[in-house]
Amino acid sequence: MELFWFDFLIPCFPTSYQSACSLSLLLLSYYIFISFLLNLSSVPGGFAWKNYHQNPKNQLKGPKFSCNFMGPLAHRKLASMASSMRATRLMAISLGSMRVVISSSPETAKDILCGSAFVDRPIRESTRLLMFDRAIGFAPSSGNYWRHLRRIASTHMFSPKRVAGLEGLRQAVACSMIQRVEQEMAERGFVELRRVLQKGSLDNVLESVFGISGGGEFGGDLGVMVKQGYELLGEFNWADYFQLGFLDFFGVRRRCHELAGRVSEVVTQIIEQRRKDGDFKIRNDFLSALLSLPQEDLLCDADMVAVLWEMVFRGVDNIYILLEWIMARMVLHQDIQAKVRREIEIKVGHNKHVEDSDIPNLPYLQAIVKEVLRLHPPGPLLSWARLAVHDIHLDKCFIPSGTTAMVNMWAIAHDPAIWPNPWAFQPERFMELGDFSIMGSDLRLAPFGSGRRACPGKALGLATVHLWLARILQKFKWLPARPVDLGECLKLSLEMKKPLVCHAVVIS
Ligand code: HEM
Repeated sequence: MELFWFDFLIPCFPTSYQSACSLSLLLLSYYIFISFLLNLSSVPGGFAWKNYHQNPKNQLKGPKFSCNFMGPLAHRKLASMASSMRATRLMAISLGSMRVVISSSPETAKDILCGSAFVDRPIRESTRLLMFDRAIGFAPSSGNYWRHLRRIASTHMFSPKRVAGLEGLRQAVACSMIQRVEQEMAERGFVELRRVLQKGSLDNVLESVFGISGGGEFGGDLGVMVKQGYELLGEFNWADYFQLGFLDFFGVRRRCHELAGRVSEVVTQIIEQRRKDGDFKIRNDFLSALLSLPQEDLLCDADMVAVLWEMVFRGVDNIYILLEWIMARMVLHQDIQAKVRREIEIKVGHNKHVEDSDIPNLPYLQAIVKEVLRLHPPGPLLSWARLAVHDIHLDKCFIPSGTTAMVNMWAIAHDPAIWPNPWAFQPERFMELGDFSIMGSDLRLAPFGSGRRACPGKALGLATVHLWLARILQKFKWLPARPVDLGECLKLSLEMKKPLVCHAVVIS
């Protein structure tokens, strides 16, 4: 076990753990001292880079001392550190014993995301225990398994036909969210939108993945398990960064085991039930798509559990978090809200619900979504990092195999050299840019990532966000019930620190 790492860990303790056992604290004080001594002999990027700065001409830049890089504002801290060290193209840091490079520029981001080196993901202990190493997001890209999963995802789960086929469900969920808003307004006089969007997002995902409508028999259990999964993956686990053998600080390993067991049990029951019902050929959910695959493509049950669980997990939070940010901006910028509502009035009218087919005729609505993805991307560090599978030279610097890379998309999207007046909320900029694609071809704004590991759910995610946004703007005028606080908190995704609370006035 290496000794130098605690300097990074100490500031990461969640406050709820301050009462950790005295043995841990004793160990901690000891290692602070050791790490301090080790830091004295450190190199740019910190101790993890000690053996990799061979060429003095092309040295990576980065802080020599480890400090608290991560946490709820990691994207901002990393951005300001990279800019103060003039290391926006590439900055080296150490996370415990892990070598990390961070790109805050579109050029090096492209090299990382679209090149051949950074095609795997670093697998943390909690990720593996929660089965994600068998799902698309973390399965290694070498060998056939991951390619097989990506092919199944693009042809069967996220094909344009399936996304279109799920419109009825998106409409039904929009109607029930609208009803819930009306009910909250009648009962309380204000709406905490996050709760409505969270429930809508979960119902939508459970039905598109399992065909479970209205929560069904397992809906409640799955909702609780998703929440617990977010908490566990968001928790700091020492074993992710150091070989701690049998030690299980704060019980993360035990809790992951328990949760994975329950997920497996529930999802296996759903799979078995669907097999018995035998109606999967005529249904439009992801589970039915997996069960209808040709014999040679079929996945075993354990892999199906992992893939379906990942879809539920991924499909819930990104969507409601993005919509809450958009609505915060709508409430703050009443002129922009009025302008987009006018667009909806003119192009769709008030007597029919907005449909998917109307969205191409609503360019201002689309520009609003892009502008919010620029200012408040749900994955400011592009969610999960990438891992180099071979040595590579980036910007003439040597990066050894096994290095983790992160792209700070938040920093790129706030760079004044790329985006004039970057802090201002101006959807008009995207009207002027014309057909600017945010799907990964232009690294000035790629909130869904890019390259072979880019988000396979992006079309489904955007279709859902566009439709729901248009529907709730068509139905209500949104006003603040409390001052809007744009404070951020990076957990698994970048959330609003304080929930948005508003008044919704029905438009007659
Ligand atoms: C607004 C919505 C969404 C955003 C902003 C988003 C963002 C992202 C990002 C940044 C990545 C990493 C890309 C990279 O490394 O280049 C990713 C990967 C992924 N996303 Fe999404 N996502 C969204 C919706 C969804 C949905 C709805 C699903 C599925 C139901 C989904 C499933 C996945 C999966 C499976 C991966 C891993 C891909 C791989 O490693 O091969 N995402 N997403």
